[in-house]
Amino acid sequence: MAQPRTSIHGNWSSRWAFILAATGAAVGLGNIWKFPYITGENGGGAFVVIYLMAIAMIGVPLLMAEILIGRRGRRNPVNSMYLMAQESKKHPAWQAVGWLMVCAGFLILSYYSVIAGWSLEYVWLAIIGAFNNAGTQEIQVLFDSMLASPQKLLFLHSLIMSSTIIIVAAGVQKGLERSIYLMFPTMLVLLVILVVYAMQSGHFKEGLAFLFQPDFNKLTSSGTLIALGHAFFTLSLATGSIMMYGAYLPNHASVAKGAIAIAFADTLVAILAGLAIFPLVFANQLEANAGPGLIFQTLPLAFAHMPYGQLVSILFFAMLVFAALTSAISLLEPTVALLMERLNLSRQRAALLSGSLLWVLGLGSIFSFNLWANKTVFDKTFFDLLDYVTANIMLPMGGLFLAIFAAWKMEPGEILNELRQGPNRGYYCWRFCVRYVAPVAITIIFLDFIGMIDL
Ligand code: PHE
Repeated sequence: MAQPRTSIHGNWSSRWAFILAATGAAVGLGNIWKFPYITGENGGGAFVVIYLMAIAMIGVPLLMAEILIGRRGRRNPVNSMYLMAQESKKHPAWQAVGWLMVCAGFLILSYYSVIAGWSLEYVWLAIIGAFNNAGTQEIQVLFDSMLASPQKLLFLHSLIMSSTIIIVAAGVQKGLERSIYLMFPTMLVLLVILVVYAMQSGHFKEGLAFLFQPDFNKLTSSGTLIALGHAFFTLSLATGSIMMYGAYLPNHASVAKGAIAIAFADTLVAILAGLAIFPLVFANQLEANAGPGLIFQTLPLAFAHMPYGQLVSILFFAMLVFAALTSAISLLEPTVALLMERLNLSRQRAALLSGSLLWVLGLGSIFSFNLWANKTVFDKTFFDLLDYVTANIMLPMGGLFLAIFAAWKMEPGEILNELRQGPNRGYYCWRFCVRYVAPVAITIIFLDFIGMIDL
């Protein structure tokens, strides 16, 4: 059995710090911005069922696989995959899975930062009281005029990207660990306040039914793929983030408990966000399928009319920015670690170099909302395409290969050693999910999507 390696980038101070950091990576715009709007676009309940099944049966097992590979390798995802292949005497080409993941994370960050910028703008709008007593129309105008201004979006994107670079350049542990301790509980409290407000909107039942009453006639094959892709996106799977954070996990910590805690917290936040938003959508005659603008058009309406709405709105969007930042950091870290290990760059230089490239790539997403709004491929703007290809193709593909590698290629002895347990029921359950459920489900959903089979 190989000796445990040590990370050359530092470690989390405890397993709790890891769980919080990984939860910070998982909980982000995906939960509060994306989950409600894709649920709205894909008809609600049935979509949520597929999403929850994907989290439980594919997401959690793969989270465990990523954490354990990361901790065993203790390097950036490419090198960790390489080392794992070597340890199990498998072909070094398996490191390509590491490349796929790091690239997916890199591409995601380029547009993630742009959307995080929207949240930042909304903090400002809340501070100046722009939502006070505003109606649906006014709120819509605020949103549209933000999107119409490339300068504004660029400014916001620059602020988010430079904060991300600064935090990553300073090393992940200190600022990050501390800020998450403060941020996560506060965000939960604010979400609960919003859910309570939504309960009083008179349309809570409708919202509840929309989320939890599945109507499988509304589910399309592309909806199924989107639910699967989102399960990956929301858990930060197959982007290298979790594998990288696993590389900093103390040796004694339980991988399984960590994975379950992360998935639970992440799902809770998404469901709460849905429960806060849909009742308001129905109460204000808005469209559930409004797309990426959904929360920016619905939540301000709630804030406009609730007691202390201005204060709550400032806090809420500030939380959203923090939630986005803790995810953004986790998206940048794998690339930075890769550059440090491969090119021998200092952390600062690696962060600056990758962050600058991302800043440039982000321009494409910014222009998608204005200058290039009409330039589409397959009916999708640059932003839509990037989001679609990363979340619905690269992540499931990364997950598929990861599952195959972990369950079929790695030595079971090494895995058990890393899970710090014997071959008990939990282990067999994990292995069954990673060996069969994940690869088969991902493959079927893909084949259905490209029309080779018809579910
Ligand atoms: N999981 C994050 C969210 O839901 C996004 C993310 C994806 C972060 C991949 C890191 C890696 O917002």
